Amino acid sequence: MPVTLTFLGHAGFVLGDGKHAVAVDPFLTDNPVATLKPDEISCQSIVLTHGHADHLGDTVSIAKANDATVYAAFEIAEYLGGLGCKTEPGNPGGRITTDFGWVAFTQAFHSSSYEGRYMGMPCGVVVSVGGQTVYHCGDTGLFSDMKLIGELYQPDIALIPIGDRFTMGPELATKAAEWIMPKVAVPMHYSTWPLLVPDASGFTPEGMEIKVMEPGESWQYG
Ligand code: NI
Ligand code: MN
Repeated sequence: MPVTLTFLGHAGFVLGDGKHAVAVDPFLTDNPVATLKPDEISCQSIVLTHGHADHLGDTVSIAKANDATVYAAFEIAEYLGGLGCKTEPGNPGGRITTDFGWVAFTQAFHSSSYEGRYMGMPCGVVVSVGGQTVYHCGDTGLFSDMKLIGELYQPDIALIPIGDRFTMGPELATKAAEWIMPKVAVPMHYSTWPLLVPDASGFTPEGMEIKVMEPGESWQYG
């Protein structure tokens, strides 16, 4: 089954197989490049990489409006559960079987907090939907176990932060992509604000397709 990827801008995506829609890091309000509003997102599941506001974003309103389940690190799940969201907690190394496939949490070298509250380990997430495997690296620096994550999950698509300052910049992200070796690499987490690199021209991994997506754009794979 093919998977349809919709880029929400920054690090947000919706992955759909026609039956299930999974939103990852749905940050729309206060996202200067977003083309969609939270009430335009229709999904049954939400997956979060970490607690920072540019990732947790509109999770609460979207989860409640859609009665969606949120998959996230234990501390985030505990916090969102307290706000009345349906949650499934996890942590790096673990995999959760779901009605659309599965969600696995990987490590990420970053931090994770929300409004001053500790939000557990920052993660990358590997999501299997429509039989296709998508690795969203989260916010992270480069680490050599990306090679292992590529080997273990053999992702069809990798969503890789390239914006620099808070994550890898284009050069290190290029190295990351060549370690993960997906079939398609999608750069993300850049150009949202002036602090981040303005374009993806420095992201040049070899041996895979590079797909640069515009906010609001959808693309089908598989
Ligand atoms: Ni972050
Ligand atoms: Mn971020």
